[in-house]
Amino acid sequence: MVKLETKIGRLKLKNPVMAASGTFGTEYGELVDINSLGAYIAKTITLNARIGNPPPRVCETPSGMLNSIGLENGGLDDFIKNKIPGLKRLKIPLVASIAGDDAAEFKELARTLSKVKKIAALEVNLSCPNVKHGNRGFLIAQDADATYEIVEAIRKVTALTVIAKLSPNVTDIRNIAKAAEKAGADAISLINTIVGMAVDIDTKRPVLGNITGGLSGPAIKPIALRMVREAYNSTKMPVIGIGGIMDYKDAVEFMLCGASAVQVGTANFVNPAASIGIVEGIASYMVKNRIKEIKDLVGALKA
Ligand SMILES: Cc1cc2nc3c(=O)[nH]c(=O)nc-3n(C[C@H](O)[C@H](O)[C@H](O)COP(=O)(O)O)c2cc1C
Repeated sequence: MVKLETKIGRLKLKNPVMAASGTFGTEYGELVDINSLGAYIAKTITLNARIGNPPPRVCETPSGMLNSIGLENGGLDDFIKNKIPGLKRLKIPLVASIAGDDAAEFKELARTLSKVKKIAALEVNLSCPNVKHGNRGFLIAQDADATYEIVEAIRKVTALTVIAKLSPNVTDIRNIAKAAEKAGADAISLINTIVGMAVDIDTKRPVLGNITGGLSGPAIKPIALRMVREAYNSTKMPVIGIGGIMDYKDAVEFMLCGASAVQVGTANFVNPAASIGIVEGIASYMVKNRIKEIKDLVGALKA
């Protein structure tokens, strides 16, 4: 028997696989057993409702997809009133994902959500490339000082496990990861999408209504692996690996590079059961390779 349990801060997961924020609505529960996953991460919410970006908001690219949803959501009150009752039925830990324009907004979200019993952790989305976070036009996770300021503000108002979600759109991920750690994050998750664009040569227009969008899927995996390894080697926090994970082999690659857990995004649009197949695949890989526990796999890259 292999042990699939893993720990992210005080958050105990029965296995290391989660679906990434914004890619796996609870409606997937009609197709697959969500409770087979390690935890459920809700779509990012903001303090006030957001209508998102103009259409088209999604397009396919070679080995990936571009999205410019722009954090469409009903806001904090709607989440508590209309989403939490359904999410309470889940038998796995619930991670709420939050984004704000400034420290005050993040604080209010964190303080309020900390009072909701079902929520076990907060993933702090510092890295959505499709919205302006109010950091002088930059993403919060593109600036070590801004990352520190926001994570510290959240840390002060919550005892929940805090996971800072970082951006690949940076020169040096290590500085940002260290800032999140110093400010009190329990863990980091990376990567969010990479800013890109697509062009229609007939109309001579950008394909996306927002002009740019976030690239996800297999195309970004090599970049994500490199960044997970850099973050793992430069901090002591657990790292959650994200980016182009389509099957269990991809997930194992991330764990060898230092990920204590993984999140699956774009693969859910191809196959709603992808994440569950990845749980089973990791278990078989461990049996075959005589690996007893997840921690024996984490960072075991021979390099
Ligand atoms: C359609 C779509 C919506 C997304 N919405 C969110 C979101 O609300 N919050 C967030 O933190 N990340 C969001 N993401 C980013 C994913 O969680 C993930 O970080 C990214 O897609 C990379 O993983 P992947 O290559 O497995 O898709 C979204 C991605 C996609 C494709």
